[in-house]
Amino acid sequence: MVMSDITNIAEMEKKIFSDAWSKSVFEEQFDEIGWGGEVALCNDTIIGYSCFYMTDDEAHLTNIAVLPEYRRKLVAKRLLESILRRASENECGYVILEVRFSNSDARAFYEKNSFSLLYQQPGYYSNPKEDAVIMVRYLNKD
Ligand SMILES: CC(C)(COP(=O)(O)OP(=O)(O)OC[C@H]1O[C@@H](n2cnc3c(N)ncnc32)[C@H](O)[C@@H]1OP(=O)(O)O)[C@@H](O)C(=O)NCCC(=O)NCCS
Repeated sequence: MVMSDITNIAEMEKKIFSDAWSKSVFEEQFDEIGWGGEVALCNDTIIGYSCFYMTDDEAHLTNIAVLPEYRRKLVAKRLLESILRRASENECGYVILEVRFSNSDARAFYEKNSFSLLYQQPGYYSNPKEDAVIMVRYLNKD
């Protein structure tokens, strides 16, 4: 993900999420330590993206999304595999994320990819207000 991708990504985000991140939120991330972002392309067009932060032990997946017409084609799986690879290279112990309780598509995707429930955080989200499910995948450091 590069700065010139952000206009497109913010438009996609608005179509996909009820509590979409604004363009400026995406832009501000670029300066933050440990931040990373990746895009999935089809014929030079962005069809999916992911954002994450890595600290010494933790990789935090903050966003992953794929345009509706490109779903169930393993695009998100490939984005996730790239994060997992980078997290392992960084010697992170785990990847953690939060997801809306009602987001059964994303929860199924994460479960399929070996994430498990850590805990539920009441009222974490707004627009609409909803609990978050915190999920984790531990990485084999051996
Ligand atoms: C969640 C999301 C990123 C998945 O993207 P995707 O590219 O369609 O996922 P993949 O094709 O890589 O799916 C891999 C596997 O995960 C599981 N999976 C993915 N989406 C699923 C769904 N809607 N229902 C059930 N299982 C699903 C399946 O096992 C799938 O393999 P299969 O298609 O061979 O059965 C996509 O639905 C999306 O963009 N949703 C809106 C944004 C969002 O909610 N992001 C998460 C915020 S926390």
